[in-house]
Amino acid sequence: MSDRTTVDPAAIDLRIKQHLDTVFTDDWQVRQLSQQFRRNGYVKLRELIPEDLKAEVKAEVFRLLDLHSRRIDILMKETGETPRKMSTVSQVAIAKDSTLIPAVYDSTSLTGFLSVLAREPVVPCPWDEEKYVIIRQEKRGDTHGWHWGDFSFTLIWIIEAPAMEFGGSLQCIPHTDWNKADPKLHEHLAKYPISTYPHVSGDLYFLRSDTTLHRTIELTEDKTRIILNTCWSDEQGTRKAATHETMEAMFT
Ligand SMILES: [Fe+2]
Repeated sequence: MSDRTTVDPAAIDLRIKQHLDTVFTDDWQVRQLSQQFRRNGYVKLRELIPEDLKAEVKAEVFRLLDLHSRRIDILMKETGETPRKMSTVSQVAIAKDSTLIPAVYDSTSLTGFLSVLAREPVVPCPWDEEKYVIIRQEKRGDTHGWHWGDFSFTLIWIIEAPAMEFGGSLQCIPHTDWNKADPKLHEHLAKYPISTYPHVSGDLYFLRSDTTLHRTIELTEDKTRIILNTCWSDEQGTRKAATHETMEAMFT
């Protein structure tokens, strides 16, 4: 593409490293973030990425949406017939037309810090097509219905978010497990408290995606919610034979 620029992955990693070394200097602050992540399956990390790099990623996401977005409106059997109503850009399309997003994904400074929060190694997703995807919700009723992830660690970049009264907030039930053959969605909803997290543009959050049942609240009007989803595995996940029904339905 004419406006595609090739980035140097080492330069991206250095920018992230220098930023993290400046912002997260207090061990107690980092330990609190880690405890939130491990207790709640969720921690907001607005300061994780420098603002100038966030702006570059945002511009890249808009460019990729213009090139590749594809509308879906489906129900997923493996998560109890919950809906997916959204536009998506697949990992394959991103890898083809972006060097910035793969460089951010491959930053060992970023995954090193996330590993500190997780208290275990955050390693590349063994299935390429779940490494990074873009999702845009834009129409009234759009939602990413209740689900778990196939892999352990997800960093969501809130590129654009509507005011919380229009929906789009994240809801979570941590410390739950996904039986794809019998997800027992409504039993989980009835049994455990649900936490709701609104976001604004520029937020990031780190989610324990395999053991946190989560969804986004339906949009109540035609408003825009855009995310970049970056996903990593734990070391165990690189060895087990995972299946990918929900991702394949959404992004291929
Ligand atoms: Fe998810």
